[in-house]
Amino acid sequence: MYRKTMAAVLAAGLAISVNGVSTYIPAQAQSASASSTAFDNKIIKKISADNMYNTIATLSAQPREAGTEGELIGAKYIKGKFKEYGYETELQPFPIYEAIRNNVSGTLEINGQSLNPYVFSGSYSGEVTAEIVHVGLALDGQVPDNVKGKIALIERGGIAFVEKLQNVIDKGAVGVILYNNAGTGNNVGVADPGQNIPAVSITRAQGLALVEQLQKGPVEAHLKVTGSGYVEKTSYNVIASMKPNKNRDNGQVVLVGAHHDSVSGGPGANDDASGVSAVLELARVMAKVPTDTELRFVTFGAEEKGLLGSYHYAGTLSEEEADNIVAHFQMDMIGSKDAGGDNPAGGLIMYTIDGQKNLVTDLAAAAGARTSEVIPYGQLGRSDHQPFHELGIPAALFIHSPVEPWYHTPADTIDKIDKNKLQQTAEIVGASVYQIARPDTPAMEHARVAPGPVPYEFEDRPVQ
Ligand code: BES
Ligand code: ZN
Repeated sequence: MYRKTMAAVLAAGLAISVNGVSTYIPAQAQSASASSTAFDNKIIKKISADNMYNTIATLSAQPREAGTEGELIGAKYIKGKFKEYGYETELQPFPIYEAIRNNVSGTLEINGQSLNPYVFSGSYSGEVTAEIVHVGLALDGQVPDNVKGKIALIERGGIAFVEKLQNVIDKGAVGVILYNNAGTGNNVGVADPGQNIPAVSITRAQGLALVEQLQKGPVEAHLKVTGSGYVEKTSYNVIASMKPNKNRDNGQVVLVGAHHDSVSGGPGANDDASGVSAVLELARVMAKVPTDTELRFVTFGAEEKGLLGSYHYAGTLSEEEADNIVAHFQMDMIGSKDAGGDNPAGGLIMYTIDGQKNLVTDLAAAAGARTSEVIPYGQLGRSDHQPFHELGIPAALFIHSPVEPWYHTPADTIDKIDKNKLQQTAEIVGASVYQIARPDTPAMEHARVAPGPVPYEFEDRPVQ
């Protein structure tokens, strides 16, 4: 598999700068040619923070929770803009499953005694009467065969609820009673869609009492869950693509992403209408520039539900398609006045999944030096760069860290947005993307100008 390396992409024009990496030498200073000054001005000078601000205002007029009408309105708006800029566009639907919360009830009767159990989030609705079998922690490979046709009594701990549930389902259990491993509460437990047996939780004291009873002989339970389960909804990714001129096409793709969904009831101005606004603005300014690389802009749905849109999109790529993607730039929360603390560059940082530098961070550090400031990198997931990293694609998240106090609240509104932060981030990402996509890289002999690599540091900066 061939990918452009930092060396290949940045090599152009480095003959005079490779040994000078300990301090930044502006691209302009590296080249004698006057035409070289700020070679990517044709991109960055066109970026308009006002455009981005207006996009955020439009998108944050209502919440955009995945699977709701608000998301679809936002997604259609984004698609329309891409189309207006001349891109091939696609609204890519995918199913999401949401646990039903209203009118859920569960009863558990043992020896004529009624317990008041908590119903697992998303538990299947059903009614069973069967003997109870204590299966301990229900660890992989440790669930006894005699749980078949029985209700499994499981202790909390060690592995995820859904794994415990699956382990006893695989052995033929017909219901689950989970007892807590500490405290006095019982409100724990999650079931996945398709785990079709009723599952409830009880307190630790109730669980230990049951374990004791079971040591004396068989115990039967009547377990009933009603009103619970999952509903299927549809979320969307919005995909925009611009292929290079056929005689220039190197077959490679650069991805620029953000997520358009918000949390429930939140306007999501910064999280992540801000990222979407930069995606749209970069799509606009890059639509007319010649490239040798496909530009692909994607806004993902259902990020807030667990990166579902980006995983779905990544899952639709063939191995060959994934191999052709040379970089993924994810912008998520790039405009808050109240984020970033006193850190340089307004707190802008690049997070990679493995905490290592890659093509994306190398390019953006160099672009930062050209356009404003060098930005540091760190290690964090929590956004749509994750699935691309897992495919082996160099990827990074651009975000202001620490995040603002309004994060995931109804107060994440347009009035908290700082145009300078939008501008700075879009310039850095735009200049980096252009560095990959412009026709005269990586071939050094054809490059008139190029940035040099700059030193940039790892920072273990807490995001919250
Ligand atoms: N924009 C955030 C990511 C984020 C938030 C990064 C705070 C760093 C600090 C993103 O939309 C989000 O909220 N992600 C979820 C994780 C996801 C897998 C559901 C999160 O961080 O809780
Ligand atoms: Zn986000």
